[in-house]
This record gives sequence, structure tokens and C-alpha cells, in this order.
Amino acid sequence: MPRLVFLGPPGSGKGTQAPALARELGVPHLSTGDILRAAVAARTPRGLEAEDHIRAGRLVPDPLVLGLLRERLAAPDARTGFLLDGYPRNLAQARALEGLARVDRVLSFELPEERLVERLAGRRICPACASVYNVATAPPRTPGRCDRDGAELVQRPDDRPEAVSKRLRVFAEETAPLLAHYRELGLLRAIDASGPPGTVAERLRREVADLIPATSSSPAPPRRAA
Ligand code: AP5
Ligand code: MG
Repeated sequence: MPRLVFLGPPGSGKGTQAPALARELGVPHLSTGDILRAAVAARTPRGLEAEDHIRAGRLVPDPLVLGLLRERLAAPDARTGFLLDGYPRNLAQARALEGLARVDRVLSFELPEERLVERLAGRRICPACASVYNVATAPPRTPGRCDRDGAELVQRPDDRPEAVSKRLRVFAEETAPLLAHYRELGLLRAIDASGPPGTVAERLRREVADLIPATSSSPAPPRRAA
């Protein structure tokens, strides 16, 4: 089973693309952002420690994230493959991952900053089921309400403009150096993340075609996710 990493700035579409590709590859989609938000919602000690960092758009401290990741990678479904979304985010995290598992390929999502800002400004999420919408590009059937459960949609606290600027800065300063790291290891593939989700999904699929199990049927339609 393949071990993949999605690397890309906030709003580049990692969470939108990951669930369908992970299903096709037969691996779990592991988003450290989703895991952290679940910990915050459950008011666990780690969630409480992470909350202010996330809200401000800073990285959560490495040991906390690594602890969560180590536990998740030890679960039976992740032992032989995974699609990591949002980890690693700095060189220390990449080295920690190298101590835990092999990585087969790193898909780097590329999108100009003005498009990232637009997508993040329009994103709305369901607080009940975590479905993701966009007021401009993926609106719910009833404005402001989740298609699945009717809950009132909200903005992620870190999608407010001050936090978005901080997250973009953190990506440029702390995460972008990973591009050179994975390029040197021969693992990096760039993905043009512009255009509709279906077009991006096709580009991704081309870059991992050799990793798709022979038994896999045609791709399922993209599902919304954080
Ligand atoms: P995380 O949840 O990972 O956020 P992120 O990396 O900033 O990425 P986003 O989830 O914002 O963007 P995305 O690329 O998934 O875009 P999406 O598909 O939703 O992390 C959040 C925070 O947690 C971090 O800031 C940090 O504090 C902490 N954290 C997480 N991991 C950590 C780690 N490893 N170490 C330390 N701290 C960590 O799409 C965005 C919007 O665009 C949606 O509305 C969507 O509908 C729309 N859209 C998507 N694709 C398209 C398209 N092709 N066309 C038009 N619209 C589109
Ligand atoms: Mg995401």
C-alpha cells in the first residue's frame, strides 16, 4: 500500500482531494488538522493545548502533533499505507516521520496566493459533521445550512483574515523548505491546484497512477472534507 504526503499551502484543496484518492488507493486519509480539531472539540488535554495555536494560525508544537500522529499510524488501517494531509510541516516533523514510516511520494499543491485567500474566505464548515463548503465554488443547497444534517454552517476560526495571513507566512517560512528536502530525495511531484476539483483530481491521479491497486475500480466522485 502506498504512503503518500499532501504538501500545500492553506486553501490549496488538500482536504477536498484527499478522501476520494485515499479510497481509490485503499489507504486512510490522515489529516493532522482534522485530528487536532477533533481533539479541540472533545476538550482533551492535547486539544486544549493546541486550541490557541490553531486559532492564531501558528503551528501546534511538534511533540504534541507527533504524539497524535504516532498513535494514529499505529492503528491497524494505517500500518501498511496512508495519505497524510498536513503533516509534515517543517523539517523536524519530516525527520520524525522518517523514523516512523517510509514515504513513497509527496504531492505538492501549487496555487497563487490570491486564489488561496479567496478559497479560504469562502470556506464554511459544518460544526456537526465537518463537511466543507464554499460560498463561491461549492455552496450548500440551502444557504448557510449543511446538506447532510441541516446544521448552521460556520467559518473556521483560523479562516479569519488575520489568521490566514499568519498561516500563509508560516507555510512560506516553515513548510516550503520541505519542497527542496523532498525534491532532493526524488519524491516530489508538483500539482497544479487551479481549476475545478475534478480537474485537479485527474492531475493527482496521473501522478500516482502507478500506485493505484490493480483491483481498484474507477474513481469515486470527490467528497467534501476539511
Ligand atoms: P489544516 O487543517 O491542515 O489546515 P491547512 O493546511 O492550513 O489547510 P486547509 O485545511 O486550510 O486547506 P486545504 O488545502 O485542506 O483546502 P480545502 O480542501 O479545505 O491545519 C490547521 C491548523 O492545525 C494549522 O494552522 C496548525 O495550527 C494545526 N496543524 C495541523 N497540522 C499540523 C502539523 N503537522 N504541525 C503543527 N500544527 C499543525 O479547500 C479550501 C476551500 O476551497 C474549501 O472551501 C473548498 O470547498 C474550496 N476548494 C477546494 N478545491 C477547490 C477547487 N479546485 N476549486 C474551487 N474551490 C475549491
Ligand atoms: Mg484541510
